[in-house]
Amino acid sequence: MTPVISVRDLVKTYRVGEVDVRALRGVTLDVMPGEFVALTGPSGSGKSTFMHLAGCLDRPTFGGYVLNGRDVSQLDKRALARVRNREIGFVFQGFNLLPRTTALEQVELPMLYGAALAGKERRARAAAALDAVGLGARLDHHPNQLSGGQQQRVAIARALVNQPALLLADEPTGNLDTRTSIEVMGIFQKLNAEGLTIVLVTHEPDIAEYGTRIVSFRDGRVRSDRPVTVRRGAAVELRAYEEQAALEVDAA
Ligand SMILES: Nc1ncnc2c1ncn2[C@@H]1O[C@H](COP(=O)(O)OP(=O)(O)OP(=O)(O)O)[C@@H](O)[C@H]1O
Ligand SMILES: [Mg+2]
Repeated sequence: MTPVISVRDLVKTYRVGEVDVRALRGVTLDVMPGEFVALTGPSGSGKSTFMHLAGCLDRPTFGGYVLNGRDVSQLDKRALARVRNREIGFVFQGFNLLPRTTALEQVELPMLYGAALAGKERRARAAAALDAVGLGARLDHHPNQLSGGQQQRVAIARALVNQPALLLADEPTGNLDTRTSIEVMGIFQKLNAEGLTIVLVTHEPDIAEYGTRIVSFRDGRVRSDRPVTVRRGAAVELRAYEEQAALEVDAA
């Protein structure tokens, strides 16, 4: 099988004034199709830098990156943007939605850059993507008319509407409460079960356990890499939450 992500001795050095910041100091890692990798590690260990490189938002200083069998480490900005739009979905901690723009329009955006689609087809696909994350009844809502969890689901629909093989998520539950975090992890687990490869950055050990593998960074290097032996299941946990809430209502 061809890895989705295959990086070799990946180095990223940022130049800040006279100082070199060595954000990645040689990362070698393969991510296979269907994996759900949780990337953890202390603040400043290089997680977001890795996600930027993996997401073709930036180029490595040294080292190789083969994405779905294609060497992308030397591509220029325009070529990287094309690869990114076609093959990668990105979800951020802060949702990164446009204000005064409906959910439907946010999700239509990535389709404006890709294959030329008729407006009607674009809207139909965007509506289907929103429906798939449970927002079929919120198509005309603006971000300030949606909860945090709903905004993150709009961002997930936007990331997936071009049907990428790889979803990258940098602290997607960082701004969400516990219950909403489990809901979002439930969406990721469902998508992963349908074949989507996921790499997700998190600070929280329990969030990492929704994945299939935990890779931990330290000082710009891989410090540990292990499978998740007892995996958490978001669907089961949400049901338990609801039963607990129902009991509390009965008791009141
Ligand atoms: N654009 C940049 N220019 C200069 N230095 C940067 C840049 N981005 C990151 N760095 C530096 O690179 C190192 C790694 O940063 P990175 O954002 O990858 O860490 P992180 O693991 O994502 O941390 P956090 O958990 O706080 O998000 C840090 O020392 C950071 O200050
Ligand atoms: Mg970060």
